[in-house]
Amino acid sequence: MSAVRKIRLVVLISGRGSNLQAILDQAASGELPVEVAAVISNRPGVHGLERARQAGVPALELDHKHFANRPAFEAALIELIDRHRPDLVALAGFMRVLTADFTEHYRGRLLNIHPSLLPKFRGLHTHERAIAAGETEHGASIHFVTAELDGGPVIMRARVPVLLGDDPDTLAARVLEREHRLYPLAIRWFAEGRVRLDGERVWFDGKPLAEPLWLEEALLSR
Ligand code: GAR
Repeated sequence: MSAVRKIRLVVLISGRGSNLQAILDQAASGELPVEVAAVISNRPGVHGLERARQAGVPALELDHKHFANRPAFEAALIELIDRHRPDLVALAGFMRVLTADFTEHYRGRLLNIHPSLLPKFRGLHTHERAIAAGETEHGASIHFVTAELDGGPVIMRARVPVLLGDDPDTLAARVLEREHRLYPLAIRWFAEGRVRLDGERVWFDGKPLAEPLWLEEALLSR
C-alpha cells in the first residue's frame, strides 16, 4: 500500500483562525495529507497564531503596517512564504488585497475561502449584503486566486438557507460551520491531485468543470 504524499501547506491569516483550526485538526488526524509548514499573519497577536503554536506549527507575523507600500509588503511576504517551500498557499481569513505580482507568483497553487456564493457578493460585508438583497440562500466558496478580487475560478461552494429573522451574525455562524467542512475537502482534493487550475479553468478528476461543485453533493459521492 502506498501512502499519499503529504503536500506542504502555508496558511495566511489575519484573525481568529477558525478555518485554520479545521485544517490543523484534519492534518493532525491524518484525514488531510498536508504538512502545515507555517502560518503567517499580517496582524500581530491574533488568535490564529496561538492555534498554530498549539499545533506545533511555526506561527509568524509580518505586519503590513511596517512596509511603505503594498509591493514592499508582498515582496517580504513572498520571501517568507517561499522559505517554507509550499506546494500550496491557503488564504484563510487573510484580509489584504493582493496585487497581480503576488497572485501570478502562486498561480495554480493559491486558494481562498470567501463567505458568499461567488460570483455573488465579492468583497466585504457579504452576510449583511445577502440579507439586504433578500437572498434566500447564501454560503461560501473556495476558489483559485487570480488578480481579480474574489474573481478567480471557483472549485466548490457550500450553501445554507437565509432564515427569517437572521442578522449578519446568525447567518455568518451558519456559513462558518459549512466553511469548516468546505476548505479541508478542497485542500484534500488539491493534495490528491484531483483538482487543478489550467488557464482559467478548474479541472476535477481529469475533466474541466463546467460549474463549481457543491459541498453536499461532494460529501455524498465520497
Ligand atoms: C471566514 O468567514 C472567511 O470566509 C472570511 O473571513 C472569515 C475568517 O474566519 N474571509 C473573507 O472574508 C475573505 N475576504 P476565521 O479567521 O475564523 O477562519
